[in-house]
Amino acid sequence: PWVTSTFGKTAYLQNSFLDKAPTWAIILVGFFGVQLLAVVVNVLRQLILPRDPNLPPEVFHVLPIIGSAIQYGDDPINFFFKCREKYGDVFTFVLLGRKITVALGPKGSDMILGGKPNVVSAEEAYTHLTTPVFGKKVVYDCPNDSLMQQKKFVKFGLNTENFRVYMGMIEEETYQFISTDSAFVDTFNAPDRAWGSFNAVKSFAELTILTASRTLQGSEVRSKLDKTFAQRYNDLDGGFKPINFLFPSLPLPSYRRRDKAQQAMSRFYQDIIQRRRQRALGASDDNEDVEVEHDILAALDQQKYRDGRSLSDEEMAHIMIALLMAGQHTSSATSAWTLLHIADNVAVQQGLYEEQVKHFGLPGGKGFKPMEYEDLKDLPLLDAVIRETLRIHPPIHSIFRKVLQDLPVPQSLAAPSESGAFVIPKGHFVLASPSVAGMDPNIWQNPTEWDPYRWVSGGSGAGAAFKDEISGEKVDYGFGMISKGTESPYQPFGAGRHRCIGESFAYVQLGSIIATVIRNLEMRLPAGRGVPPQNYHTMIVMPKSPCDIEFRRRA
Ligand code: HEM
Repeated sequence: PWVTSTFGKTAYLQNSFLDKAPTWAIILVGFFGVQLLAVVVNVLRQLILPRDPNLPPEVFHVLPIIGSAIQYGDDPINFFFKCREKYGDVFTFVLLGRKITVALGPKGSDMILGGKPNVVSAEEAYTHLTTPVFGKKVVYDCPNDSLMQQKKFVKFGLNTENFRVYMGMIEEETYQFISTDSAFVDTFNAPDRAWGSFNAVKSFAELTILTASRTLQGSEVRSKLDKTFAQRYNDLDGGFKPINFLFPSLPLPSYRRRDKAQQAMSRFYQDIIQRRRQRALGASDDNEDVEVEHDILAALDQQKYRDGRSLSDEEMAHIMIALLMAGQHTSSATSAWTLLHIADNVAVQQGLYEEQVKHFGLPGGKGFKPMEYEDLKDLPLLDAVIRETLRIHPPIHSIFRKVLQDLPVPQSLAAPSESGAFVIPKGHFVLASPSVAGMDPNIWQNPTEWDPYRWVSGGSGAGAAFKDEISGEKVDYGFGMISKGTESPYQPFGAGRHRCIGESFAYVQLGSIIATVIRNLEMRLPAGRGVPPQNYHTMIVMPKSPCDIEFRRRA
């Protein structure tokens, strides 16, 4: 219409599509025409235009902006292995307008996870996702040096004395759960030992939050795990999805619910802190002893930053939310995967049961002694099933950093020519993948096979050797001495300054849960089903549905 009113109807326009078609059809054709042109230009740019030889190779993609989002989102590991075959250990792909440079292999992980925080930044990569959920002034909403101190404060609470107390608590919660939860109760108590079934993901998410709140989060949180808490938790969790990583703020109800839940959760923890202070004051007036708490709030309350400042109530509350979120999906996914593999592998299941009987069995088959924290190191198969599950199913498949200064790639990792070097430009993101490391056929024998015995000395694979490598070079980034591990092919807990501080707790929690389940239940997968494939559409790699496990109470 604009053309006609401006220039008049020429002979060409008369009888043409523009003349006859309704306006909406012209707009639609125009819109798709522009898209098509963008696609053509994008493809030609990659095929014809010369590339800067110092940039890492770029993964060929048809759709501009979207790039390789579909292949990466559907199956990142398959995508990375295919790209590695074609481009080598270092390559860049486009993910919804962002340039992501992947660096694989031990040297690739070392470059990213061992990088200096002023060159590769976790804060810049994650803050838009985490700060609305955790809250302000903690983790990635503060300078890296403050995060290192906050990790030290939390580690203060993750000590042997507390772990000793936690073991009994977790065993008790687990036994209560499998004998009273609606998914278990009928079968567990049935006299005929018939088989029942539970959903591995759903049941073990519930048990994870019950055990974490009883231990790390503290008695007040455990006693308040009601519908309101669950709703707040779900709303917060709803803001911790891949969409939130890709689009920091959108006018969607889930974003608004997340923000409301964050405020409510922050108030909830701050109220607990206030009540504890009042109780302590009251007790000191009455000369009464206050019960010693073994949780992380109690540890945080005793800590000070290097400049002498105590943590504010808000900071403590937000650290507690961060820990709740950091430990929940990671541990619950790991327990679900571990049990699915154990249910699928009768020999390993029997081996685990015998290990329990050997160490804790009471005479005459009259049950078991409780498992103590110190016992964990003497149970090689229990340790190995967790380790092996984390090798194949590290909950976090991609670790990101934002590049703050042009980052030269070591020539030993990848280079355009003998004399040149790749440079990853400032503004790119870099990505290390614990999943690729754990499945690398150059390192692991039969990498796709779940074989816990590879971790037991004299076992079949490389695992036993890497256990030693993990305990190699030690570094203190500000939260105590840890294994650097940046070149290790086994990185389910990350490596370097951002390495997980929850690893020891995770082993306590998972070890105690699995041992209690094994002592009480026989498990198997439904006939004709194997261990489900991985679902990469969630932030944490979960088993795809259906993921039921059949069980019956042990004789
Ligand atoms: C960091 C995995 C449990 C707290 C990390 C990282 C990974 C990870 C891969 C590194 C992230 C990065 O470099 O960007 C796991 C796995 C777990 C687990 C596999 C269980 C099986 C926990 C638990 C807690 C926790 C139970 C809390 C008690 C943290 C914290 C960080 C972290 C505070 C540090 C973040 C940083 O420095 O940037 N975890 N985690 N994690 N995790 Fe865990």
